[in-house]
Amino acid sequence: MTLGRTRSVALSGIEGAMVEVEADFAQGLPQFAVSGLPDAACKQSPDRIRAAASNSGVPVPHRRVTVNLSPASLPKAGSGFDLPIAVAVLAAAGALPGGVVEEVVHLGELALDGTVRPVRGVLPAVLAAARAGVREVVVPAANAAEAALVPDVRVHPVRCLAELVQRYVVLGRGGRPEEPEVVSVAEPALAPPPDLRDVVGQDEARLALEIAAAGGHHVFMVGPPGAGKTMLAERLPGLLPELEHDQALEVTAIQSVLGVLPGEGALVRRPPFVAPHHGASMPAIIGGGSGVIRPGAISQAHHGVLFLDEGPEFRTNVLQALRQPVEAGRVVVARASGVVTYPARFQLVMAANPCPCGLGFGKGADCSCTPMARRAYLGKIAGPVLDRVDLQLPVRAVTRAALAGEPGEPTAAVALRVAAARALQAQRLAGTPWRLNSHVPGSELRRGALRLPAAATSDLDRAIDRGLLTLRGYDRVLRLAWTLRDLAGGGSPTRQDVGLALTLRAHAAVAA
Ligand SMILES: Nc1ncnc2c1ncn2[C@@H]1O[C@H](COP(=O)(O)OP(=O)(O)O)[C@@H](O)[C@H]1O
Ligand SMILES: [Mg+2]
Repeated sequence: MTLGRTRSVALSGIEGAMVEVEADFAQGLPQFAVSGLPDAACKQSPDRIRAAASNSGVPVPHRRVTVNLSPASLPKAGSGFDLPIAVAVLAAAGALPGGVVEEVVHLGELALDGTVRPVRGVLPAVLAAARAGVREVVVPAANAAEAALVPDVRVHPVRCLAELVQRYVVLGRGGRPEEPEVVSVAEPALAPPPDLRDVVGQDEARLALEIAAAGGHHVFMVGPPGAGKTMLAERLPGLLPELEHDQALEVTAIQSVLGVLPGEGALVRRPPFVAPHHGASMPAIIGGGSGVIRPGAISQAHHGVLFLDEGPEFRTNVLQALRQPVEAGRVVVARASGVVTYPARFQLVMAANPCPCGLGFGKGADCSCTPMARRAYLGKIAGPVLDRVDLQLPVRAVTRAALAGEPGEPTAAVALRVAAARALQAQRLAGTPWRLNSHVPGSELRRGALRLPAAATSDLDRAIDRGLLTLRGYDRVLRLAWTLRDLAGGGSPTRQDVGLALTLRAHAAVAA
């Protein structure tokens, strides 16, 4: 036999596409080339495979071997094609029975001694394979637990090439090789999230956090340093319910692609909390990169919270680039090497000091900033972010009275109300693509079944008449009004709900 065939998966974003791997031996000078749009790492596969194969006792014959990865137009990135290429080549060489490997998907990198090394993105790759009808995958042993999260697929972990070859030889003879059992790993025990009970005072901010958690709204907090903004933001994920199964798979897939999956591949069930530093680069936050395209912090925060502390300190181009994902729930990264879409439906929490020196609160007597510097500071985030935020709240310095007062409600109590409000939304939005008030498009809120009577929206209509509100702002107030009503027990928002939503949206801009 001179032709060998097997299968693998190429990833674009967190979507996988099936790849057919073919190898053919021909007469001619010894050569080993890979065609079908391999990237730099994939092009070097032949060198690793030659060494790994000879160190595993199944050397690649010194003849002309051509490998094709099809569809040829699809970019193939990374070292994960080592294993499928090796299997196709060894099948073509007759070292493996070709029939038994054709329908199997292989993923894995080879070390020179034949060890199979873990690769990134195994979960999304196996998910794609299962969707394409594949029933059997071979993955590096270190990625087996992650692959086993996908139902209806048999997962064979491999530690080294020799072990895999041996298995196929036994299978080819009609024997039954010993199958190691893959057990899915339990989620690592996480430290409990920080509790709202620790926050002194800040009743308004606590309420805003509850509303944000209930409807999935974006929040902007402005206040002096040391008032508890960071503390409050860190307590938002604790108010959110556990991820549903399909959400958990998406979040785990992103972490798999990033190579940050904790606990050797357990399903991530808690909403992520991602807080990038303000000095972080565009690719680190939005996604991209010069060589391999990777998801950024906004995708890592998918179905969770993205916290941008000291918001105005972030680079202008990063803040500008946030606009599209904040609205669309996904990000499109275009590079010379291709266009990739990543999911990025995060809940944005941004915090800012009132001015560059941070002392411009209260009477502002100690503030050393010029009026222009103050305006420029918050002005930087005004356009790209503030109009897209549903809740703007001033966080004031803690007062002595608050310090002496009763401790606030614990996270668990607030989370119960959040869950009840979310259940009402799920009921109302059943059969639509949306789950939370913050996901519903404006047109649905203004026209469809969710349209409110004119009496309820009269204040809002007046604000738009006077040019105080953009249409985007109008829609955001409506979404917030629905959440306020859901927290108050359900039904249709009243004029009071809309009025409160309007205040919650706008008052930090005044305070600033
Ligand atoms: N409202 C508050 N309740 C309890 N502790 C607070 C509060 N505000 C500030 N602190 C204390 O001050 C520290 C700094 O607060 P932080 O949240 O970082 O403030 P900010 O982000 O507004 O600058 C916290 O770690 C906490 O110990
Ligand atoms: Mg802070």
